[in-house]
Amino acid sequence: MKVEEIKKKMQEELQDVCDLKALNELRVKYLGKKGLITELNSEIKNIPNEEKKAFGQKVNEVRTLFQSTYDEIKTRLEEKELNQKLASEAIDISLPSTKVSQGAPNILEKLIEEVEEVCMSMGYDVVDGPEIEEDKYNFEMLNIPKGHPARDAQDTFYLEGEEILLRSQTSPVQVRTMLKGKGEVPVRVICPGKTYRRDDDDATHSHQFMQIEGLLVDKDISLSDLKGTIDVIVKKLFGEDVETRFRPSYYQFTEPSVEVDISCFNCKGKGCNICKHTGWITIAGAGVVHPNVLRMSGYDPEVWSGFAFGFGAERMAMLKYDINDLRVFYNTDLREVKHFDRRELKSDD
Ligand code: DAH
Repeated sequence: MKVEEIKKKMQEELQDVCDLKALNELRVKYLGKKGLITELNSEIKNIPNEEKKAFGQKVNEVRTLFQSTYDEIKTRLEEKELNQKLASEAIDISLPSTKVSQGAPNILEKLIEEVEEVCMSMGYDVVDGPEIEEDKYNFEMLNIPKGHPARDAQDTFYLEGEEILLRSQTSPVQVRTMLKGKGEVPVRVICPGKTYRRDDDDATHSHQFMQIEGLLVDKDISLSDLKGTIDVIVKKLFGEDVETRFRPSYYQFTEPSVEVDISCFNCKGKGCNICKHTGWITIAGAGVVHPNVLRMSGYDPEVWSGFAFGFGAERMAMLKYDINDLRVFYNTDLREVKHFDRRELKSDD
């Protein structure tokens, strides 16, 4: 093949090349060991002497031309491939992101945390107790012996015979705490937790509900200490202008016993649906710890005294958030949880 022919073909082929692989194949075809341009060198011997120089120059020219065209095309193709790669791997940040659905705190937990916070600020520890409880702690050591009629109102679920049950109140934690305290004072705890009773579920009853128990044992503790403490808690929860009143009541583990009422935070005592037109709302049972309970738990009632209280957590949350069905806390409808969460945020503003 003549030099000119090779040059022409080489130029055509180089113009047609469209990827780096094909370009490399051309490099081998023309400049490889047995490439067309390389082979021209071996033809020099067949060229008459006077033409050798011109021939050599021509071959060099073609080689240089190949090399420069090759370099130029290679740069262009590399750029093209890089751009293609960048385009195919690009992240389109203009696309809307996948929505992460955000949860909301359980309203009951929120209320419990508020009570915990205010009690901790008064030096109380938050303690836990077992939900599967012994009859001994749930009843007997709270001064409710076997056969006592007070047990009827707290009928619960029994696991093994008559001794192991699901606790019907958080009050057994009082006993457990005192036994653990081994006579040391002050005892200052609250215990929020689940409790169980054999109730049919409806808008105001549930076989499972939550109580927040409180216990304080020290020297010279009286009903007025209890009133002051409850007052601080309810003011924090329901507002500074809310008042507390005690009504006489009866619990086996306190003497005297009281029902704790707060003035209606909704109508300010005038009478409305929430307070059933009485101006007052009952939110807890409480009292001065019965001497028998102190004694059974290792505290001498001649020396020490204490008070205890038990809030119904659902009741407080229902009042605070104006919820009229207790089942709202236990179904899994996120719309309800979020609804109350939004209301809460608003009232915090
Ligand atoms: N445990 C009682 C109940 O479930 C509530 C209660 C009343 C708790 C008086 C107390 C208390 O600690 O002193 O009805």
